[in-house]
Formats: sequence, structure tokens, C-alpha cells
Amino acid sequence: MRIFISGATSGIGRELAQQYAAPGVTLGLAGRRVDRLEEAAAGVRERGGTAHTYPLDVSDREACAQAARDFVAAAGGVDLVIANAGMGCTDRLETGDAGPQAKLLTVNVLGVVHTLLPFVPTMIAQQSGQLVAVASVAGFRAMPWHTAYCASKTAVQELMAGYGMQLEEHGIRLTTINPGFVVSEITDSNDFYMPFLLTTEKACQKIRRAIRRKKRVYTFPWQMAWFGRPLVRLAPRWLIKKVSPRPGKRAP
Ligand SMILES: NC(=O)c1ccc[n+]([C@@H]2O[C@H](COP(=O)([O-])OP(=O)(O)OC[C@H]3O[C@@H](n4cnc5c(N)ncnc54)[C@H](OP(=O)(O)O)[C@@H]3O)[C@@H](O)[C@H]2O)c1
Repeated sequence: MRIFISGATSGIGRELAQQYAAPGVTLGLAGRRVDRLEEAAAGVRERGGTAHTYPLDVSDREACAQAARDFVAAAGGVDLVIANAGMGCTDRLETGDAGPQAKLLTVNVLGVVHTLLPFVPTMIAQQSGQLVAVASVAGFRAMPWHTAYCASKTAVQELMAGYGMQLEEHGIRLTTINPGFVVSEITDSNDFYMPFLLTTEKACQKIRRAIRRKKRVYTFPWQMAWFGRPLVRLAPRWLIKKVSPRPGKRAP
């Protein structure tokens, strides 16, 4: 199996790489921190897998395209691409500075497009493959103080839904993963209460099972999948505002 993962230097991406690592599996690992990439690659090799590293920023379209070309050449094709790299930030509207939000939207939205699309011609030629994006339950509805993050994940959900309808006739499956809270560097910096927080290991087991089953959309944990989306969509505006974590409001 030939798997390319962005954001493989920490959290979900790193754990997915370690869980997929096995003899006969070739992994392409992408991220900006070179030392962390090499650590992740060493872990893959210890488990008997083959690892190639691609130090890159997913905002850089050409770097992503070059990494895809290099990985396909090295691995002789591609079976699975996981666009996982992403970042969080609170809105901080009062600063008047659009820079942080511009960066977040570029990384979380264009980063997914930059990562997945260069692999499409190869998958069309193969008439097989799976493209996965890690979105979030935050994409179900805009929440104040986190609007840019929520909007970025809604955009990913919609891109994946549309691409999926177009690419299925070529034998390409698209899967959108919507995690709730998972232990990672992103959640390490959250200073608010995170209900149903899952370990990285458990979350990645769930993600891998959903990918194996070729689900179109997979939301977890089940509490957020069963009740979260319908309730969040129907909830009145005042309630969304009340439950949305305000920066600085510490976890109980
Ligand atoms: N943890 C959660 O509760 C949770 C919930 C829902 C969705 N998610 C989503 O899950 C995905 C993985 O996040 P995580 O929770 O595992 O957090 P994390 O530990 O912070 O991992 C983020 C990964 O993305 C990479 N990355 C960030 N900006 C990048 C850029 N500009 N170019 C290339 N790589 C970049 C980071 O690598 P470098 O810094 O080395 O580049 C890192 O490997 C994200 O898309 C996140 O939004 C997480």
C-alpha cells in the first residue's frame, strides 16, 4: 500500500503514519519541521515500512505538486492520500489584523486542495485510489471566537462532497473525517473544556477503520455524530453563542 500523509510531524498525522507502518507499506510524510519528519520516518522504518519525507508548507502549491510527483515516482503510484495538515487560531477580531485568519484559511482550505489535487491524474490513470481530508465537527456551524476555523472546515467538507461526486466515476473514493476533540498539539493549547476528548491513538484507530470501510463521511466520537450535527444545526443563535468556548475561559 502507498500512502501520503500531510501534517505527519505531530498529533493525528504522526500517529496515523505509525499505525499504518508495516512491511509492504510505503509512506510519504509531509510537514514543515524536518527533525520531526525524520523522527516519524524512523518510527515507520522500525515497524518495517518504507518512508519518504517531504519537508514543505501546504500553502506552497508548487512544493505540494513536486512532492506528489516525487512520491508517485518513488512508490510507483498511490493508493491513499490523507490531507491532514491544519492549524487553529481564535478570531481576535478586536485586533483588526486579518493576517492570522488569512493564514489559517490558506493552510486549512488551500492546503487540502494543494495536497490532494496533484494526485488526481495518477488516480484517474490507475482508476483507483482514495482521497481523505481531516475536517472537523467545527465545520457543522460557525461558532463565535472560532469562526475562521469553523468556516475553513465547512469549506473542506463541501470541497470533499463535490469532488467525491465528480471522481467516483474514475474509481476514486473520497472520505471526509470530522473529529471531535483529540489530544494533539492543537488541543494542547486550548484553555477551554473539551467534551469527549479522545487519545490520539484511539482517534486514529477510528479514522483508519473509516478509511478502510471507504466511508464518505465519518464523524466521531459517536456522541457528536448522533446528536452533535442535528442539534448544532437547529440550535438557536443565543445557545451557540453561550456554549462556544471563549478564549481565556479555563477548563473546569
Ligand atoms: N485535535 C483535534 O481535536 C482536532 C479536531 C478536529 C479536527 N482536527 C484536525 O486534525 C488535523 C491534524 O491536527 P492535530 O490535531 O493532529 O494537530 P497538530 O498536532 O498541531 O498537527 C498539525 C499538523 O499539521 C502540520 N501543519 C500545520 N501547518 C502546516 C503548514 N502550513 N504546512 C504543512 N504542515 C502544516 C503540522 O506540522 P508542521 O508544524 O511540522 O508543519 C502538524 O504535523 C488538523 O487539520 C486539525 O484541524 C483536530
